[in-house]
Amino acid sequence: MTMAPTYNKPARRIRFALIIPLLAAIAWGTYASAAAIVGDPVLGASDPILGSKHDFTGLNERAGVAAMSGVAFSDYGYSCVYCHIPPEEAGANPASFGGIDGWNRYVPTLSNYQLFDSPTLDYKTRAPNPISMLCLSCHDGTMAVDMVVFKPVTFDASQDASMHMRISPNDDAESCGKCHNGQVAHDITIKMLGTDLRNDHPISMRYAGFGFEDIDFRPPDTPEGFLNGVKLYDGNVECMTCHNVHDPSRPLLLRANAEVLCFTCHTK
Ligand code: HEC
Ligand code: HEC
Ligand code: HEC
Ligand code: HEC
Ligand code: HEC
Repeated sequence: MTMAPTYNKPARRIRFALIIPLLAAIAWGTYASAAAIVGDPVLGASDPILGSKHDFTGLNERAGVAAMSGVAFSDYGYSCVYCHIPPEEAGANPASFGGIDGWNRYVPTLSNYQLFDSPTLDYKTRAPNPISMLCLSCHDGTMAVDMVVFKPVTFDASQDASMHMRISPNDDAESCGKCHNGQVAHDITIKMLGTDLRNDHPISMRYAGFGFEDIDFRPPDTPEGFLNGVKLYDGNVECMTCHNVHDPSRPLLLRANAEVLCFTCHTK
């Protein structure tokens, strides 16, 4: 099975009516000081991510299939926790449990990755940065989508799914491809980037366009990126540079329309 050696909290049954004001209070208290981004279900109640492909609490219902319930992944009761640290763990450091710094997911096996390389690169990727590791932890197809470091305190362990599947087109009990083969349900193949990233756009390297450093790249409008929303992270290109999981308004969660996206940065 793909569930990790997890940090399991003893099942605690707390009525939701009681927990909401409590969590809100904790969240307000820790929000500003927390090192990690905390996905707070109260503050995020109208976040556009709800109802999108990354909303794992709404997925079964929306897909209209009872089939996925209990089989594909555990429904933790709120969507934020599949990526973010739950508010009640705001002070915790996922890295001490093998997690990605700042995120509620485990570090993928970095030595498996074959990274993009080419003789013309100004900057090379050495290893994915945490924010791209987050995406890869599901999209490389090696770990179950519900494999989180901290399960929310409200989750009843007896509701844990019997299987925990990965984004992989394989036809086995560990893979969403069991059903997502284009026949039972839509084909999931293209959603798995795998661990060979040589055919994908390079990530986690410094943007070569600062200060006209390389004339093949436009200088960014601000240190954080471009006015059309294309975003740099500490001056680097990451998965979230081109995509925004929090904004499903464009196809494939892109930050700019496909025709202009590449020319935001590349001059040719
Ligand atoms: C698929 C993963 C994923 C899920 C699910 C998710 N987020 Fe996020 N969230 C991110 C990423 C990645 C960022 C970083 C965005 C950035 O810094 O540009 C982020 C940023 C944030 C931020 C900080 C925004 C900022 O500008 O600093 C908040 C607050 C947040 N998310 C709340 C939530 C809430 C609330 C939910 C649930 C309703 C949620 N997120 C679900 C991935 C996710
Ligand atoms: C946020 C800016 C940005 C955007 C948007 C962007 N790129 Fe890039 N791209 C880069 C950077 C930076 C490099 C690496 C440059 C370097 O260090 O030499 C790169 C490298 C590449 C390379 C490899 C070039 C080589 O020297 O081997 C290709 C191919 C490429 N990009 C294609 C695209 C395509 C196609 C799109 C649109 C889907 C796109 N890029 C969008 C910034 C961007
Ligand atoms: C917890 C697991 C998980 C994480 C973490 C995750 N994704 Fe996904 N992502 C999925 C699933 C599941 C789908 C839907 C697959 C399908 O429709 O076949 C998806 C779909 C997508 C799609 C296609 C959307 C569409 O409309 O078809 C993009 C683009 C994407 N993710 C990018 C990202 C980026 C960027 C990150 C990191 C910020 C990320 N994902 C993090 C699970 C995840
Ligand atoms: C028992 C069969 C089965 C399994 C296992 C399964 N799915 Fe599905 N899923 C379906 C069916 C049927 C649909 C609806 C038809 C479609 O969208 O292709 C669906 C729909 C979806 C959708 C579209 C929902 C929407 O509203 O856009 C996503 C995303 C999805 N599944 C993700 C997954 C992921 C991720 C896994 C593995 C963790 C998984 N599924 C495992 C049967 C399954
Ligand atoms: C330079 C911009 C750029 C970067 C960086 C980038 N992507 Fe994409 N991504 C795209 C574009 C454009 C598409 C749609 C065209 C295509 O499939 O190539 C896409 C497609 C996707 C899809 C959906 C495939 C489909 O057709 O349904 C997923 C999933 C995805 N990207 C995830 C990621 C992840 C994870 C990362 C980081 C490892 C990443 N992307 C980095 C631009 C980017």
